[in-house]
Amino acid sequence: MRYFLLVFAVSGIALLGICGFRGGLSRRPPIELFPDMVRQNKVRPQTPGDFFPDQLSSRLIPANTVPRSGPYQLDGEVLSVNGKPVFPYEDSAVNTGRIPGTTNWAPVTPLTITRQLLQRGQQRYQINCLPCHGPDGDGKGITSKYGMVAMANFHDKRLIDMADGEVFNTITQGKNNMGAYGANVPVVDRWAIIAYVRALERSQLATDEDVPDPYRAQFKK
Ligand code: HEC
Repeated sequence: MRYFLLVFAVSGIALLGICGFRGGLSRRPPIELFPDMVRQNKVRPQTPGDFFPDQLSSRLIPANTVPRSGPYQLDGEVLSVNGKPVFPYEDSAVNTGRIPGTTNWAPVTPLTITRQLLQRGQQRYQINCLPCHGPDGDGKGITSKYGMVAMANFHDKRLIDMADGEVFNTITQGKNNMGAYGANVPVVDRWAIIAYVRALERSQLATDEDVPDPYRAQFKK
């Protein structure tokens, strides 16, 4: 009988210990031997906090800061296609290099070519492409002296005839031995570079007709 009471009491306590407080909620942390920074002082989102005078723990964006998504710009001016600004999430040739709704390459740059865009393109070309494709685009950049081979020559007829959209895709995704530059060269800069590459190509395609009259005679000599 003595033992029965003892066993009864012990098993009663064990039962209570295992099942008794199940489902009970406590805001107090359990005993942790090595808390390892699991719990820290922090402000929870969407809760009041007393750190700021207005007691908002989720802060509003400060006035006049840069939005995460806006229309494409060049030197602070919004660029537009057909009179409308273009946003990075749009199905537009500016973003894809393709005519929207088709899989065809955009034949020419969708952005308006301005002096500003060309100058930007020259600068970006010289930073990103010149080491391989060379200052005049003949594919004989400095890397050709260090074992890099077969860089495309922009004066090849195939590349002169290539749609701007396809060149855009090559910059974005890379091609064969050429790595992708989409992560390094922003969208507007890609189009600027293409405009500049076209100018480089044009520079080699000049004919007598391009020389102003007074100078043409000199050239013939
Ligand atoms: C690290 C060297 C390197 C850099 C930098 C580089 N390219 Fe290339 N590019 C190559 C090589 C190599 C090829 C030839 C790829 C192949 O095997 O067809 C190539 C090919 C191309 C082609 C032709 C693709 C085709 O369809 O045949 C274009 C257009 C081009 N590059 C544009 C650019 C532009 C624009 C830049 C600057 C944003 C650039 N590349 C930067 C190495 C480079």
